[in-house]
Order: sequence, then C-alpha cells, then structure tokens
Amino acid sequence: MSTQTQERVSEVTIVDHLAEQHAKDQLRFLTCGSVDDGKSTLIGRLLYDSKLIFEDQLSALERDSRKHGTVGEDLDLALLVDGLEAEREQGITIDVAYRFFSTEKRKFIVADTPGHEQYTRNMATGASTADLAVLLVDARKGLLTQTRRHAFIASLLGVRHVVLAINKIDLVDFSQERFEDIRAAFEVFATGFDFETQVAVPISARFGDNVSVRSERMPWYEGPTLLEHLETVDVAEHSLDAPFRMPVQWVNRPNLDFRGYSGTIAGGRVAVGDEIVVANSGRGSRVREIVGATGEVATAGAGDAVTIVLEDEIDISRGDLLATPAARPEVSDQFAAHLVWMADEALFPGRTYYLKIGTRTVSGTVTEIKHKININTFEHTAAKDLELNEIAFCNLALAAPVAFDPYEANRGTGAFILIDRLTNATVAAGMVWFGLRRASNIHWQALEVDKAARAEQLGQKPAVLWFTGLSGSGKSTIASLVEKKLHLGGRLTYTLDGDNVRHGLNRDLGFTDTDRVENIRRVGEVAKLFTEAGLLTLVSFISPFRAERRMVRDLLDEGEFIEVFVDTPIEECRRRDPKGLYKKADEGKLPNFTGVDSPYEAPEAADLHLRTLGRDPEELADEVLAFLERRGLV
Ligand code: ADX
Repeated sequence: MSTQTQERVSEVTIVDHLAEQHAKDQLRFLTCGSVDDGKSTLIGRLLYDSKLIFEDQLSALERDSRKHGTVGEDLDLALLVDGLEAEREQGITIDVAYRFFSTEKRKFIVADTPGHEQYTRNMATGASTADLAVLLVDARKGLLTQTRRHAFIASLLGVRHVVLAINKIDLVDFSQERFEDIRAAFEVFATGFDFETQVAVPISARFGDNVSVRSERMPWYEGPTLLEHLETVDVAEHSLDAPFRMPVQWVNRPNLDFRGYSGTIAGGRVAVGDEIVVANSGRGSRVREIVGATGEVATAGAGDAVTIVLEDEIDISRGDLLATPAARPEVSDQFAAHLVWMADEALFPGRTYYLKIGTRTVSGTVTEIKHKININTFEHTAAKDLELNEIAFCNLALAAPVAFDPYEANRGTGAFILIDRLTNATVAAGMVWFGLRRASNIHWQALEVDKAARAEQLGQKPAVLWFTGLSGSGKSTIASLVEKKLHLGGRLTYTLDGDNVRHGLNRDLGFTDTDRVENIRRVGEVAKLFTEAGLLTLVSFISPFRAERRMVRDLLDEGEFIEVFVDTPIEECRRRDPKGLYKKADEGKLPNFTGVDSPYEAPEAADLHLRTLGRDPEELADEVLAFLERRGLV
C-alpha cells in the first residue's frame, strides 16, 4: 500500500483512534435529577475533588459565587458547571454539557442534563452514549416522578447501570433510616427496568460526604463512595461479543490500485481472512487487509476506526453496512421503533422526514403511532400526533430497505434520527424495536402498459396542477375554468377538489393538523395515480403545509408538479365568505379554521403565483393556460 494512502487513512482515523484509546478505561455517565436536587453541585464537587479546576477558573468561581451563588460565602460549585450566564440567572441548567475528568483508575465523561420538566430530549441525548446514569434525589423528598422518568428514559436508551445518589443527606441529619427507606423504594421500582447494576449511595454534594471522600458523619454506611463505585463498576460493553458490523462511512479510493471501506466498527470483531457480507445487497467477499490508525492490523473490534480492503471488487458505497454472514442484520423498509420527539413542531404520521441510521439516509414516514407512553405513569395511550419531549412506539415505512439490528442488540446499528426535510433539524431520536416482515412480502408489480404509453395514446403530457390557498381564495373557481378550457382543447383532465374528496375517500378526516397531513398524503397519492394514467390532474385543496406540498412534488417526476398559489388576502376571503365559514369561525363555532386558528404556510417559490385582487377568474385561468403553454404542456 502506498505511503500516500497510509497518510490519508491516518488523517481520518487519528481522532477516532485517540478517542478509542481513551475508551479502554473510561466511563461515560450522565447525571439526572429534578431541579434543585444538586446535580451541578455534584459534578462541580467531582471536578473540584479531582483537582481539575484551574486557578483562573477558581477565581472566576469565587467572583460568580458572590454574584449569583445561593450558598452564602462558600464556593457555589454548581456555578462551575452551569456554564451559561442565562442559565445562572434562571437557576436551571438548560442544555447537555459534557465534562471530562479523570482519576488514576479511570477517565470520565459526564453528561450533565437538565432536570427541568420539558427537557426530556436533552436527557435522551445524554443517555444515548452513556454506560451509567447517576440519578439524584433529595433525601428530604425521596423518589419523585422525575426520578421514575429519568430511570425510564435511561433504560429505554440502553443505559444498563444506575446509581441512586441520595443527596443532601446532611439536611436529614445523616439519617440511616431515611436512606434505607428511599433505597428500598428504589429497589422496588427499578425491578421493572432490568438494570445490570443498581447501587444507592448517601451523599452530600455540597460538603463532599461520600462523593470522593468517605464521610465520617455516616459510620453506618458501609458501601463505596460515589467515586469509588464509578471507578470500579464493571460496565464492559458486550459490543465486542456482538456480531461484526461496520457502517461504511466512505469509500477510500486514492488511486486505481487501492479501494478500501472506512468506518467505525459498530459491533463485534473482524480479522483478515474473515468472510463478510454487504447487508443490503447480500453480496459477499473476504477481508484481505485491515488498516487501523497506525497501519495494518490483523484484527479490529467495536469502537475501532478502520479501513477494510476486500478480496473481490463488489459494489459497496457509503451507507452500506458490512456484516458477518454468520449473523446478518435485518434488512427491511418497515420497522417498529420507539421515538423521542425533540421538535417544537409536532410529529404527524404520514409526513415525510429523512431518516438517518448508521451512515445511511433515506426518506421515511411514521405510518402509525401505536401508542404514546406517559413517562410518569408508563401508561400507554392512543395518539394522533407527538409533541415535544413525548415518547411513542411507532411503525415507520422507508423509501428503501435499510439494514439494522434491534437497539437492544446493538445501540450502534439500532439507533436512528429523524431530520426535518425543510429545515434540516434533528426532530427525533429513535430506537428500532423490530423489523416488520409484512414489507418484504409486497413487491412492486411491473406493468406492461406504462405512463408513457398511456400519455402517448392520449396525445398529452401528464401533469398535476396543484392549487393551494386559503378557503374562499378562488382555487376551485379558477381550477374549474382551467379544466373547462383544457377540456375544450381536447385534453383528458380530472379535478380533485377538497370539498368533494372529503365526501368520499377522505370522509373520515377532519381539520386537525394531523388529519390535514393525511388528507394531502392521500390526495397526493391519487394525483400520482392519475398522472400515471396520463391525465392532466387539477387539485384544489387548501393544503396548508409546505412539507406535504413538497412531499407530493417529490412523489412525481421532475416538472410534473405545478404549484399554483392562489394568493388572496384573508380580508378579501373573509369579505367574500362564499360558504359563511369565516363568520362561523370568527364566532368560535368552527374550530381549526385555516387562517383563523389553524396555520397556512404560503408557498415560498410557487411555479405560478396568482395575485387575485382586482382580477377576474377568466383572466386568471388564461394566465394558467399561458403558463402551461410556456411549459410545453398544452
Ligand atoms: S386541507 O387544509 O386539508 O387541504 P381541504 O382543502 O381538504 O383542506 O378542505 C377545505 C374545505 O373544507 C374548505 O374549502 C371549507 O369549505 C371546508 N372546511 C370546513 N371546515 C374547515 C376548517 N376548519 N378549515 C378549513 N376549511 C374547512
């Protein structure tokens, strides 16, 4: 292998390699507790005791303690970790902060996550990579709803070890009885979570009792200090024993003589000579060479960043998953999963998102919310949408099959995120529960007579004219005139009108956001079928959301979707009020009315923007026809 290649490999892998060296003797943990339980103080105490606070930080701390501190003249250790000024002023922590510290025995990465009610998503973020969770409770208050919620999220995200840190024990006179009561209650409620280890430690984060130094004020306590436990608890991941998995991050092809597949091993081990299989295509080969951070190696395992060279030239690209043929991952375009919703805007079944699993990104949609989980009572409830910080069990359908393992078997290949297609923001974290087989038994039936053949027979180019706008904006009037003119011109057309389709196909749908998403999904699919049939289809629906209009655009071929924005100011729609609906809505008799108490997202780049004020429908219909002529559609 050429030196040049070697250098390139090293460049990419060195960072990962350093991280991995650390990984050998490191513990990743997260702290969670409700507001005021003393999380920040505890982390500050751990950092302080492990002498990781530098002089300059110390003096800043002294200054800040006087300014914001809540503990009089003492150093307020919480201020060390509550980084943001804004947070300090509110007295709460509002994001995940990672801190690093080490002792002679171990290195630690701690995720400090907020205890405030609405911050489930931050905790989920912190928990997804943690080996252990420290659940803090206030000795005076005992277990709270939040403690249950944190234990539940930790367990859902695969954290297998927990410590119950019973804090502020000084405020209950170091009472053994109080400690035992809380511990007993915890043991009862934790049984359902199947943690591998669970330990309770009585501490005072503020004064340091049993944090890193054994307290003399609790002679009755014989267990380890918190730090002793963190230093010694065996969290050895079983990921090395798992079947071999490596998501391909990129294809490393510096010259014609070398082709390697780079990525971080997500499970198991691999050795030169091993057989591997590409999960999606099922093609197999044998490992010829493994290049690690420092050059060629004979074997590598979970956590290692490597480049693998195979015996055969097979088709592999970024996003593929390499696996052992002895235990293949599942491959499916449908699965059931838990979702933690992290966006302000709700999740709607039927809306299309990007789903990123491993190094693969595909379009996907939640086809069904099976149930929402009340994270305080663990009750399952029916749900039509999912709001910020809510957790649900859902079925998902993807545009293409992906390879995965159940999250329980492999956190690396079983975790995914959902991404908003318009804003690119991460909107959910997901954990695959199991694949749905149903998908693999339905195949696309190829038909002899296709769209092109039908269109040719009709002598026209199919397209969808999608009229969007407020109720009463004139969509249907204009669409109807356009259709008449097209019909006279010998075209075969069909009009799908909101009010009409809602009498039949969509009569089960109302006007909640969730129902409108489904309304447009269905009519989009119908428009696609009509396009396949060769028709010029006119669609006249309010279709208030950009995401769904975009989805329909993506369903169709390039140039087939023509978005016509019927732009009539709401004051004018209200004045016309053809069906008396604005009047009803304004009187509060018609909830969720578009433009009144339900949103309308105007197109940002419609193909045709019809400003209707002061113009008559005939004129506007002619403008549409002129546009179709320019596009070569008529
Ligand atoms: S959409 O928002 O889901 O696209 P759609 O176009 O199917 O709506 O239906 C809109 C028509 O339903 C309106 O023209 C109006 O006649 C009627 N309607 C009844 N209730 C509402 C409501 N709450 N909001 C909007 N339109 C309503």
